[in-house]
Amino acid sequence: MNNLKHIAIIMDGNGRWAKKQGFLKRIVGHEEGAKRVRELTIHASNMGLKYLTLYAFSTENWKRSDAEVSFLMKLMDKYLKNELKLFLDNNVRFDTIGDLSKLPKNLQERISYTKEKTAHFDGLTQVLAVNYGSKDEIIRAVNKAIKEGKEVDEKSFGQFLDTKNIDPVDILIRTGGDKRVSNYLLWQIAYSELFFTDTLWPDFTAEKLQSVIDKFQNIDRRFGGVK
Ligand code: IPE
Ligand code: IPE
Ligand code: MG
Repeated sequence: MNNLKHIAIIMDGNGRWAKKQGFLKRIVGHEEGAKRVRELTIHASNMGLKYLTLYAFSTENWKRSDAEVSFLMKLMDKYLKNELKLFLDNNVRFDTIGDLSKLPKNLQERISYTKEKTAHFDGLTQVLAVNYGSKDEIIRAVNKAIKEGKEVDEKSFGQFLDTKNIDPVDILIRTGGDKRVSNYLLWQIAYSELFFTDTLWPDFTAEKLQSVIDKFQNIDRRFGGVK
């Protein structure tokens, strides 16, 4: 059995899901996708996972229409408001990675409030990647180190990243059929097992997550060594 602490997911395919279902608006897919976030969080929490890191909005997603960007910001706010009870009932800590300073003020406040209310929990940590870009994170980390006048090594550099104190990613999943990482967790996936599925995010159920985990358990993880 492999040790499994951290699953990261690129939740892709919401727009295509909506189109496939015959909806005219892509946003219906985002709404359905939020339901899977809930379902997978419960599953991850029940199985004793430590970190579930979900790509919700990338530094590149600002290129989308104003209407879609503003819908996504509102959806994240609504999601956090609704999910607080789920976090409280399931011992789930909430955290984020990404540059929050560019988000609408009300969303920034909702995020800090949710973090505060769940800070003492020690079960699953759900990490939402919001206005997250791995290159942006690395550059911010480098500048922090320079400001502190510090030379870094692999271990100490990790402490300047948004993911400080979070274990490395064991499993990276991308739904939606594309095989790319889209500026997600470049440092943190150095030794992750990668899973790409054609399933669109709103169809990615807890059962499908479990089947990825089952496959992961049969992988020989050598980390450069010999067994
Ligand atoms: C992922 O689904 C959600 C976000 C990037 C916010 P998309 O909106 O990218 O859906 P597709 O990939 O266009 O189908
Ligand atoms: C990646 O999906 C970002 C999120 C899931 C938040 P995108 O749909 O933005 O990625 P690309 O544009 O296909 O690479
Ligand atoms: Mg996409």
